[in-house]
Amino acid sequence: MDGARPAGREIDERIQKHLAEEFSDDWTVLGLSQHFRREGYVKIPNIVPDDLKADVSAEVYRILEYSQRIDTRLKATSNTPRRMSTVGAKHITEHGTVVPELYHSEALMGFLARLARDSVVPCPYEPERYVMTKQEKVGDTHGWHWGDFSYALIWIIEAPGTEVGGMLQCVPHTDWTKSDARVHDYLVKYPIRTYEHQTGDIYFLRTDTTLHRTVPLNRDATRIILNTAWASAADIARVDSHETMDALFD
Ligand SMILES: [Fe+2]
Repeated sequence: MDGARPAGREIDERIQKHLAEEFSDDWTVLGLSQHFRREGYVKIPNIVPDDLKADVSAEVYRILEYSQRIDTRLKATSNTPRRMSTVGAKHITEHGTVVPELYHSEALMGFLARLARDSVVPCPYEPERYVMTKQEKVGDTHGWHWGDFSYALIWIIEAPGTEVGGMLQCVPHTDWTKSDARVHDYLVKYPIRTYEHQTGDIYFLRTDTTLHRTVPLNRDATRIILNTAWASAADIARVDSHETMDALFD
């Protein structure tokens, strides 16, 4: 799937052109980078052109038919809950075109590398590259966790109003010790930031050192996201395990 695809270059060119126009001011980009590095999070809804965002959204809705419901707790993150439907990367690779192609966009990875001040490269572990989640029932949540790889763009395909829940909560600059995650100790120790999003938002998240979750839905409502994840140079050099991913994404 890493081979050359003509349509992939087309998407890459669209992103490159858009970024050159939208983020021509270095001071603006520096501000986004500093926000990202301070908070582990920065919202950038205009990181891709609107027409590409619409293409992504249409593809996500189409591939959601392959979703599987999970309701579990994960030991490696202090038994925090996962109550949602998920679509694994293999379904997106098999049935998608837009997402797999934008994932390999050099322009997009290059811009994210400017924000992160780090190399941003495709995850060597393919099931981590892109996944979808859908929450719809009261109590649905993606409980407190970290990512196996450093960087993710989260595409908010559909979000309910903030009064319903589903907001992102973050505790940046924390470390995941899989054998002793101590999630509640981190919640006690450091402030929690809460971010609301609406349909069409996109945010860049430092997933390996930002403890994060979604606030449980307080009634039945729809929240759909696409998660595209990339690795850092340090990730590539490290051998790791993937037990949380393997438990969640078919
Ligand atoms: Fe996450």
